[in-house]
Amino acid sequence: MNSVTLNNGVKMPLLGLGTWDLRGETCVETVRAALELGYRLVDTARMYGNEREVGEGLRRSGVSRSEVFVTTKLYRTADSYAKAKRDIDASLRALGLSCVDLLLVHEPYPSAAEMYRALEEALREGKARAIGVSNFDETRYAAFLKECGTVPAVNQLECHIYFQRWAFQERMAAEGTVLQAWSPLAQNIDGAANHPVLREIGAKYGKTAAQIGLRFLTQRDIPVIPKTKRPARLKENMALFDFRLSEEDMAVIRGLDRNDTLFPWTRAY
Ligand SMILES: NC(=O)c1ccc[n+]([C@@H]2O[C@H](COP(=O)([O-])OP(=O)(O)OC[C@H]3O[C@@H](n4cnc5c(N)ncnc54)[C@H](OP(=O)(O)O)[C@@H]3O)[C@@H](O)[C@H]2O)c1
Repeated sequence: MNSVTLNNGVKMPLLGLGTWDLRGETCVETVRAALELGYRLVDTARMYGNEREVGEGLRRSGVSRSEVFVTTKLYRTADSYAKAKRDIDASLRALGLSCVDLLLVHEPYPSAAEMYRALEEALREGKARAIGVSNFDETRYAAFLKECGTVPAVNQLECHIYFQRWAFQERMAAEGTVLQAWSPLAQNIDGAANHPVLREIGAKYGKTAAQIGLRFLTQRDIPVIPKTKRPARLKENMALFDFRLSEEDMAVIRGLDRNDTLFPWTRAY
């Protein structure tokens, strides 16, 4: 699996499975199927309420723990150092793991800096291999850099053909933070996963519009975590690394950027 190297040397796969609305047996079986197909990263969060199922899917797949990159995120309920420590242990118990590969503060909560101190401790204790944040926009990220002792390895952000974040990616790379894309298919809003421009480009490479949208990000070294519960789409979304978009096609897709969020809740902080 193609990967990026984080600021502490840990390798993170460029492709993973998102699990935001996967629940119960559907979640267990989707994680199992994805890992059997070759996915090597699974993204969960305390907020999703499915860490137990993600852990079960990992065990059911038979894939060795050491081959799989597991991300989870602390929610607003962990709004103090002590509660963050408690919730990190609760996540590990739910997942059935002694350590996660990436631990994030899910959103820029008022107590994010305090929560992050618990993440830093988890890193020292070997409960996380890397730590970072999510949904920190340019202003929040810049302020957070001044507060934190450990530069976030990752900032997981909304990123897709309509919100491409070129400048922010570069700004964070200069500090040692990788932009990881959530909703890399834009949740198919405004037909993102079947966009006519992507379809036309895809015809040249024998690829679908969704594959072109995901390849556009991974070719920029942005790890993606598309979510699907459908086996055919699990396969489709992982066939990203046997072709390369030309510079001309990258530029055409760049023209679709609206440079704005599709999700107003991300502005709520
Ligand atoms: N940190 C955060 O705050 C945050 C926020 C949002 C999401 N995330 C993470 O990012 C993951 C991905 O984001 P997301 O789930 O919001 O959106 P997404 O992956 O951009 O899109 C998922 C939607 O696209 C459909 N889809 C998947 N593959 C497709 C394909 N090849 N062709 C056409 N449609 C396809 C899925 O439907 P089917 O399931 O029916 O295939 C689903 O409706 C989440 O699951 C979660 O792990 C994190």
